[in-house]
Amino acid sequence: MALGVIIEELNQNVIGKRLGQNLYNPTGNLLLRKGVEISPRYFEFFVGRGYRSIFLLSNEPDRGLSSVHYNSDKLLATAPYLLKRVFRKLKLEESVNAAQARGELLSLAESILVHVRNTLRVPPKIMELKRAEDYLYQHSVNVAVHSILIGQKLDFHDKKLLTLAISALLHDFGMMFVDDAIVNKTTRLEEAEFEQVKEHTTKGFTHLVRNCFFDGMITIASVQHHERYDGHGYPKSLEGESIHEYSRIIALTDFFDAWTSDRPHRRLNSVEHAMEFIRANQSTIFDPTLAARFVETFG
Ligand SMILES: [Fe+2]
Repeated sequence: MALGVIIEELNQNVIGKRLGQNLYNPTGNLLLRKGVEISPRYFEFFVGRGYRSIFLLSNEPDRGLSSVHYNSDKLLATAPYLLKRVFRKLKLEESVNAAQARGELLSLAESILVHVRNTLRVPPKIMELKRAEDYLYQHSVNVAVHSILIGQKLDFHDKKLLTLAISALLHDFGMMFVDDAIVNKTTRLEEAEFEQVKEHTTKGFTHLVRNCFFDGMITIASVQHHERYDGHGYPKSLEGESIHEYSRIIALTDFFDAWTSDRPHRRLNSVEHAMEFIRANQSTIFDPTLAARFVETFG
């Protein structure tokens, strides 16, 4: 019987257990192979990289976690670092950088799309171990992967899938304008701090359109992904289908990945818990049809 993969809190108890995923460095070189015994030195390595959870091999039945983790996958493991370079160039406000970055973003989205289509035949339950400092980029790639999988389920044609993938990669670009101290705060945000976080939608959108010359539907999700189906979201309290379809998809994939990730202010939640939340909030936060499709795909 194939061994299952479980996710556990990273503490001394994992020493002597076996790693449940391959681990690559930002340039795609294999650092640690799946199945290797976690020595005290490896444990320190994980702690030093800022991980709070770890994938382990286990005798328990697999719950879908073994299918893929993007750190286990060379192309997807390098994608966040390519995206980081793109985001930095886009933020610089120099037209030459923006033009270059748009090209790099397009080829990154294309390679993720081709990769997802060719390798992820069964939708995996992708949970990823994220490092706090690279969370934004790892999260954005994961949101793109999940969004492509949903788009495929909805029979989107290639061009639409590509636009959706780029929108997903850019959805949280505006977080580049939020103070690190707020992003990394481990306690509850003050109201003024939360207001600053909310501005990532409008700031990101404005910057992408005015300074980076993105057009069309590519930027729509950056401003709309925190709108809610019932009209209680932000920044514009849009309702129902006046929120673009890409934004309604990304609202789901964004929630799912964030909820199943370790964050400075809370530990990760299980896939099951995320699905329960989506079911409980379909038609309030989420589009009911898309939420049902999401649960059917990943639940
Ligand atoms: Fe966001």
